[in-house]
Amino acid sequence: MAVQPILKMGHPNLRIQAADYPLDQLGSDAFNTLIADMRDTLKDAGGIGLAAPQIDVPFNLVIIEIPEGNSRYGTLSAFGFTVLINPRIEVLDATTAGFWEGCLSIPGLRGYVERPQSINVCYTNDQGKTIEVQFSGFPATVVQHELDHLQGRLYIDHVKDPALMSFEAEFERYHAEPR
Ligand code: NI
Repeated sequence: MAVQPILKMGHPNLRIQAADYPLDQLGSDAFNTLIADMRDTLKDAGGIGLAAPQIDVPFNLVIIEIPEGNSRYGTLSAFGFTVLINPRIEVLDATTAGFWEGCLSIPGLRGYVERPQSINVCYTNDQGKTIEVQFSGFPATVVQHELDHLQGRLYIDHVKDPALMSFEAEFERYHAEPR
């Protein structure tokens, strides 16, 4: 278990464009350690996604893992552990829907963000295989949130109405859908 410190909003390294991960490093000790550290860090923090720049590794690599059932994002269907390397995203349908997003780099806060709900993503997985897959609904929001980190963007950049920023306790009290 090697939980890494997560950079918090204000750290300049959360605001830079990450570089493509060198694919000849897949399967190396450094790669395996990075993935294991990211997974340990994500689990320790109780999150559902983590981008490498959040642990100060400036590469285009994110992991997503959503356990089925209740979470701080409501009742979710499972999203198995996925490593997305050098992802490219294409919006298939610009129609948006909003979710109250949170971020491990912005602890304690939520913000309401609207994003396109149908996307196509092309990436390399941790086995070096090229994957092309479509996401819709909440998973599309999660993927866009994580991929934003690779370009130095945070969800607060997309919050249109500052009144729709909330601390966790106030979010639970005034904004969360009844479960
Ligand atoms: Ni985040």
